[in-house]
Amino acid sequence: MNFLSELDAEICNELQQLNNFIEQAIKDDQFITEACLPLLNGGKRLRPLLFFTCAKSNNNCSLERLLPLATAIELIHTASLVHDDILDQSSVRRGISTANASYGAQIAVLIGDYLFAKAFQLVAENNYGDEVSLTLSRLVKNLCIGEITQDRSLFQVPTITEYYKKIRLKTAEFLSTCCRLGGIVAGLDRREIEALTIYGTDLGLAFQIVDDWLDFFGDVDITGKALGGDLKSGVVTLPVIRALDVSIQSAFLFEIVTSGFVSDLDVITAIDIIRETDAANYCKTRAFAHIDSARINLPDMQNTSTKISLEKIADFVVDRSW
Ligand code: FPP
Ligand code: MG
Repeated sequence: MNFLSELDAEICNELQQLNNFIEQAIKDDQFITEACLPLLNGGKRLRPLLFFTCAKSNNNCSLERLLPLATAIELIHTASLVHDDILDQSSVRRGISTANASYGAQIAVLIGDYLFAKAFQLVAENNYGDEVSLTLSRLVKNLCIGEITQDRSLFQVPTITEYYKKIRLKTAEFLSTCCRLGGIVAGLDRREIEALTIYGTDLGLAFQIVDDWLDFFGDVDITGKALGGDLKSGVVTLPVIRALDVSIQSAFLFEIVTSGFVSDLDVITAIDIIRETDAANYCKTRAFAHIDSARINLPDMQNTSTKISLEKIADFVVDRSW
């Protein structure tokens, strides 16, 4: 159940080796291994995939050189999700129990911290240089600012500009950083690195818009997350912003999303109101526009298969159902 199988066999092999490397990386303690392995399984591996694909634009870049940083990227992503689930009080992710649901919030904080520290250990041990460390530190800093911004504005309706600012910080920057790091480690020229970064930003904006769309229009059995989770935790996203603009029940919807407490019944009512509007199409149209822009900005690469893979990834991001 992985879109990656549609990419070339070489990438599948690389991702298998990544899984092995991840498993080896978290063996400091038996509890840590048991707690972290399930959390690290089942993700889309989109971030390492972007990193690998961009780095392979230089045919001389070996997988051995890429694996520790690809692992660090996936560990940082998982750490951020572990902390996010604590903040959102989510009990299910990727179809399994979250760390906070399994072990309580205190231990879950420490599991996230461990994954985060392990990532920077791998970076330090493998001499990637200052630019890589600085790029990763800036990413984590922005992830935190994005999350804090979100947490300080729960149950408030953002403007489109505020919504975009937040999704840039919490998602788009991560995907663009993976592309950028691929370019840096592979020693691509500055023009290519900047172009890949711009591609990653548009890809990330589309990714988060689709994520927010899935929260209302996704299939729970496929996404592995409950519907309306954002709404319940007070996070007002693009489908709601659109519905508030166009729904005849806008005032009622506004009352629900800003009330400070959203019950299960409120979630069902709000989803019905949102589904009666054009919010689904509106969000998809915006996501497609970012994907078009991502594709247009792709540079001509030394390795032509890189461009084809990045185009396929762009198509997956907007069409995905999980
Ligand atoms: C998921 O978004 C969460 C994020 C994209 C970022 C979370 C970042 C932090 C908690 C900052 C701390 C970072 C580290 C590295 C420890 P979402 O809630 O929109 O998606 P979801 O529906 O999958 O939960
Ligand atoms: Mg969340």
